[in-house]
Amino acid sequence: MFRLPFLNKKQKQKIATIDNVPEHIAIIMDGNGRWAKKRGLPRLAGHKQGMDNIRTIVRTANKYGVKILTLYAFSTENWKRPKSEVDYILKLPKEFIHIYLPELIEENVQIKTIGAFDLLPAHTQEAVEEAKKRTEKNDGLILNIALNYGSRYEMVQAIKQITKDVQSDQLNLEELNEQVISNYLYTKDLLDPDLVIRTSGEQRLSNFLLWQVAYAEFWFTDVYWPDFNENVFEKALSDYQNRKRRFGGLSNNKSKQE
Ligand code: FPP
Repeated sequence: MFRLPFLNKKQKQKIATIDNVPEHIAIIMDGNGRWAKKRGLPRLAGHKQGMDNIRTIVRTANKYGVKILTLYAFSTENWKRPKSEVDYILKLPKEFIHIYLPELIEENVQIKTIGAFDLLPAHTQEAVEEAKKRTEKNDGLILNIALNYGSRYEMVQAIKQITKDVQSDQLNLEELNEQVISNYLYTKDLLDPDLVIRTSGEQRLSNFLLWQVAYAEFWFTDVYWPDFNENVFEKALSDYQNRKRRFGGLSNNKSKQE
């Protein structure tokens, strides 16, 4: 069960097991630019390496039986970056699919996205749409890519739609509750994240899944995303496994949520 021999008690606790694996892990993949700068490379080389690293992390997530892996690839705020960098990042999904789709299909991965998809360039939409179609029957790990995603934007869209539905009598205001609101978000078909990881030493959410992470655990590392390898990922899993989640109650019991 992924346990290594000859470790003392303290070290043993740091080995991830396949019990109590977070069902949904959301990752803020940060530090591509600094990874490149440290090596005297252009920022874009960091994004390329970051893209290739997704393969490793998907394989590790699959190995542990994670159900959903949400990756923050491009935020609604990332449009503020130089056009050349935006253009490059938005070409990466197509490249990723071109290189890795056969392997993802073989590994039974299902590709989904969250975010303002219609506002992405046509070439990004087309490539991702095709990958979604070709993996829609897979029932293994969901690789959920946050593309042009912003939590506040998502909430504004939800509030607009809720208002319209109330005005047209499709929704009764008295019936509005947390579950109904969740059903208006991009993540409506997904469980809320159990664990949020951010790489590169930054410790903020940057408009990522603000509603959905209400009871998530957070894990931060100084490691830059392109260097976030299987070992570091396993450390995050093992730390999660040693936490006590109480959901506002007194024990690890979601029904006691407050
Ligand atoms: C943040 O690092 C990273 C991004 C804004 C882009 C992340 C994109 C990828 C890893 C590739 C996406 C590809 C697919 C297939 C989804 P940063 O540039 O802010 O790093 P810095 O803080 O060191 O400058």
